Amino acid sequence: MFGTERSNSQGYNLSVAFEREPLLNSIRAFDDKQWQLKPIINGKAVDGGDKHPVLSPFDQRQVVGEVTWTCAEQALEALDVADKAWFGWNRTAVVERAACLDRMADLMEKHTDELMALCAREAGKSLQDSIDEIREAVDFCRYYAQQARQNMALPTALPGPTGESNEHYYEGRGVFLCISPWNFPLAIFMGQVVAALVAGNTVLAKPAESTSLIAGRAIEMLYEAGIPKDVLHYLPGSGATIGNALVPDNRVTGIAFTGSTETAQLINRTLAERDGALATFIAETGGQNAMIVDSTALPEQVVADVMHSAFASAGQRCSALRVLCVQDDIADRIVTLIDGALQRIEIGDPQHYSTDCGPVIDDKAKTNLTSYVERWRAAGRILAEAQLPEECAHGHFVAPVAIGISALSDLGREQFGPVLHIYRYKANELDKVIADINGTGYGLTLGIHSRNEATAAYIESRVRVGNCYVNRNQIGAVVGVQPFGGRGLSGTGPKAGGPNYLKRFATERVRTINT
Ligand code: NAD
Ligand code: ALA
Repeated sequence: MFGTERSNSQGYNLSVAFEREPLLNSIRAFDDKQWQLKPIINGKAVDGGDKHPVLSPFDQRQVVGEVTWTCAEQALEALDVADKAWFGWNRTAVVERAACLDRMADLMEKHTDELMALCAREAGKSLQDSIDEIREAVDFCRYYAQQARQNMALPTALPGPTGESNEHYYEGRGVFLCISPWNFPLAIFMGQVVAALVAGNTVLAKPAESTSLIAGRAIEMLYEAGIPKDVLHYLPGSGATIGNALVPDNRVTGIAFTGSTETAQLINRTLAERDGALATFIAETGGQNAMIVDSTALPEQVVADVMHSAFASAGQRCSALRVLCVQDDIADRIVTLIDGALQRIEIGDPQHYSTDCGPVIDDKAKTNLTSYVERWRAAGRILAEAQLPEECAHGHFVAPVAIGISALSDLGREQFGPVLHIYRYKANELDKVIADINGTGYGLTLGIHSRNEATAAYIESRVRVGNCYVNRNQIGAVVGVQPFGGRGLSGTGPKAGGPNYLKRFATERVRTINT
């Protein structure tokens, strides 16, 4: 019953025609589908808030569906139901709760085509990113189910005097508010929600405004997988409206948040002002991620890893490479290779299997990124830039670009898109580079390229980050393999997809019986 056997899902190999073509055909069946989702409270889809059309980031003329937003009163109504449902769900056997997650994993695999269509059409994700997204969501379900069975199903007997029994066990904290970003609209949404559920909490699930449809479909599947209707509620809508209604309420006993550092800080301040019980706050936020490349590195390998780390998912990953710190001696060669690679990068329709870089999420992101790049262009700092093809004219596209900077302090805020900064350092400046990376205050991912093991170990031991990758790319952490999460401005931990994640969603109890 408590077996540890588990393997991550396999996904699909797009380079093999006999795997790719049937998958693409079944995704195409959803080309004209328009999804309609409303808030779901106690299992019922409810009207009330404003209706928002969902348009494809790839082509704004394509309607993907419509979502009705939740109003503040409905969010509080959901909280009321979730609060009352907690006692029963917390008493439900852990193995039963975990079985719901296993069934959910199976359901997502069964509906891979629909979920991939949603990833591409609603979030603008490339096919490879969509496959990875669904695999990660599936892996979160099976991993947390296994972790719960292994660590939470049975109490641990503790030593004590004769005539006394002592036992330690985990239970849910109460109502968890799960707030997720649009850039992993299924994987992060699902990871938070199922971790909270399996640990014994009831859940208010608040997806990002731009990717509510895929989240709503996932909620429908979770009910099908056996999660009781009063235990899980779907609250699409404005972060400010839902946050202002729920975060100050003492009945919300925990918040799992993934998104920008600024929003996390805002929620943290509101929690600090509460006068009731202290809430658990798990925040996974942004990064200002660096890669340090010394002169022993292999330039071709470096550039392949830079291109993937900086421009895959159009740079819209918290883990993405933002600043390449390259030793002066090989910098010219690296820049030349990056320029060549940017001329070959395929930008366009996320549903085409050879696309490397799709659109950014919305017009605001496009405008902000474009004006940022234009400021550097005016300063004469563009080192290399891709060209946007014509098919991008109706979508939110930003051309992948490399910008030369003369100090890491030039970086400022996280630029959440296909923008790579390049900084040259001299051999005797490595300590300054490390200090400057730490000085950003972020601490999410770090890449190191060096064939000198001592240098790599020296850098790793001094940079304050959560995930460090040596001689490879620095994105795409795998559940149970690279538990993921940062520190400082990048988040509170614990690491998603790691052995300590579930425990933060639970609380501990000790039962002492005088026998
Ligand atoms: P965001 O902070 O704008 O929004 C995230 C979520 O917070 C959304 O659901 C939004 O509706 C909600 N929200 C907004 N204001 C709120 C409020 N006042 N109260 C409560 N909720 C509120 O971030 P985003 O643009 O959706 O996501 C991109 C950011 O997420 C980037 O900074 C990226 O680095 C970060 N991110 C981090 C990780 C990680 O694991 N560390 C993973 C993915 C994304
Ligand atoms: N976990 C995601 C990655 O590693 C964010 O890219």
